[in-house]
Amino acid sequence: MSDPVNVMGLIGGSGLLAPPELETQVFDRSTPYGQASGPIVRGSLSGRDVVFLPRHGTPRRHAPHSVNYRANIWKLREQGVDSILAISCVGAINPDIKTGDFVVPDQLIDYTYGREHCFEDESDAHTGHFDFSDPFDESLGAQVIGAVEGTGQASSLKRARCYGVTQGPRFETAAEVRRMARDGCDIVGMTLMPEATLAKQAGLGYAALCPVVNLAAGCGAGPVDIEELLNLMASFEPRLRAVVIELAKSL
Ligand code: HPA
Repeated sequence: MSDPVNVMGLIGGSGLLAPPELETQVFDRSTPYGQASGPIVRGSLSGRDVVFLPRHGTPRRHAPHSVNYRANIWKLREQGVDSILAISCVGAINPDIKTGDFVVPDQLIDYTYGREHCFEDESDAHTGHFDFSDPFDESLGAQVIGAVEGTGQASSLKRARCYGVTQGPRFETAAEVRRMARDGCDIVGMTLMPEATLAKQAGLGYAALCPVVNLAAGCGAGPVDIEELLNLMASFEPRLRAVVIELAKSL
């Protein structure tokens, strides 16, 4: 059993804007690693202190490969956050998973490159080595699953799946997706790494909730339809908001 959550961090992807209840703006976005994405807001949701950070900025400025993940995690920890729920839209690789579903992954495979993925610590001779067998916090993940169920969305929930993180911003080729399927990936997105590993290094619980907004390249009838994907992403907003409110209640 993990420690109780005092301050919940919420990293909004493209599928979630700041809940209106969070109205106190955090103006200082500077960190030793540069500027965190913003605007960062905080407030109380169902009686829980919540800090919201839009991963790509608002309006959207940072593509997945150019997000300052180190600054974002640093800033959330500086704000007193002890657990993070990351929202990340994905494409479905596993045919069991459909558009409109939610996935709570329990594993990931990292296909990204050139992203800053550690907080250096010169004083530690073993810099960079730490256990990452389980990238997600199991107990927080269970609470996220409970929150999805608590909002009456259990039928669209898939759990314990593997998220393949690609570099983007382009989508994958059909052959890349076939390789990912052979590797054991169920879904594909571009943002959970190095976010998950930085959260682990910072000692923060980390779980993800992934709205499925398309079938991955080669898995549907034709090319990935970006307009359809954006419409689906927008349709997730109220569903995500309900889950987040329910989660804040239950933590
Ligand atoms: N690939 C990578 N990232 C994504 C996708 C996808 O198909 N859909 C949403 N984010």
